[in-house]
Amino acid sequence: MGSEHSTVKESVETLGEVGKKAPKLFGIPTGIEGLDKMFFTTKIENGKVKKILLNGIPSLSVVNLTGVSDTGKSLMAEQFAVTQASLGYKVCFVTVESPSPFVGLGLRERARAMGKEWKDIENNIILIDAASHSVLREDIHSLLNTIKYAIETYETKSVVIDSVTGLYEAKEMMARSIVRKLFNFMKRYYQTGIFVSQKRSGHEELTAEAAGGYAVSHIVDCSIVVSKELVMSKYAANLYKKPLGSVIRLMRIDGCRMCGHDTRTHVFEITETGLVKIGPPLEELLKSEGGEK
Ligand SMILES: Nc1ncnc2c1ncn2[C@@H]1O[C@H](COP(=O)(O)OP(=O)(O)OP(=O)(O)O)[C@@H](O)[C@H]1O
Ligand SMILES: [Mg+2]
Repeated sequence: MGSEHSTVKESVETLGEVGKKAPKLFGIPTGIEGLDKMFFTTKIENGKVKKILLNGIPSLSVVNLTGVSDTGKSLMAEQFAVTQASLGYKVCFVTVESPSPFVGLGLRERARAMGKEWKDIENNIILIDAASHSVLREDIHSLLNTIKYAIETYETKSVVIDSVTGLYEAKEMMARSIVRKLFNFMKRYYQTGIFVSQKRSGHEELTAEAAGGYAVSHIVDCSIVVSKELVMSKYAANLYKKPLGSVIRLMRIDGCRMCGHDTRTHVFEITETGLVKIGPPLEELLKSEGGEK
């Protein structure tokens, strides 16, 4: 055409052609008690809608796990990696905050708490130490090349990044572009992704608005928001059955494009051995409280 603009013909396809390539939807177990049952698909049976639990996060989704500091995000990421590895699937774990040996320690602790054998997981988790190698944090293309190398060498099925926030430190206007590149990359290489992102304490709790602050939630397929609150009233103490001044942890799935999901806010706990366990939704606590005011 003699124009400097291109026509990308391979981007144009009929629904029929696209449909043939659509991946099958199934659940990827996370090993986080209570979480896997929060995702479902539906089918119509005898004119009625029937829920079918996925028993995991949707396959090939990219999940943004977001919350302020000390809300259990890294523990959840570790539980996911240990669970997948123990099932025989290779996981690429990109650590941006703590150097690999420290994450190794955490993974060992999580495995022990979950009753998984070290020998069953040690060769299935492939760590990329972006905490110790600044080029991986500062140059997204070097990071993508390195993840590609790990995916191809070890044939990984999923990628955990803890955290994506560490990849746009001091260049927050780049957040969307960096997360978009990582997201597209997961799709291209057929990886299920867990992207941890950090929220500032000033951001509204339990909404993914500002999931990590920078509209990351619009890019990913699914956002899980975790928060913690202090029990500071008698009412809250009664409701949660926790002493005044203690910490209560809350989580919710703030949208998932790939499948149906529980939309309620749940309480959760971190056990002494560092395992995240999702508890009942708040509305059930209110019922069991027996209408107390
Ligand atoms: N055995 C344990 N091992 C590790 N953490 C534990 C354990 N038991 C309880 N915890 C609690 O879990 C918290 C760790 O949460 P985690 O490291 O997953 O936070 P995070 O959301 O990743 O925070 P950050 O954004 O700062 O990385 C600890 O601060 C502690 O309060
Ligand atoms: Mg962390």
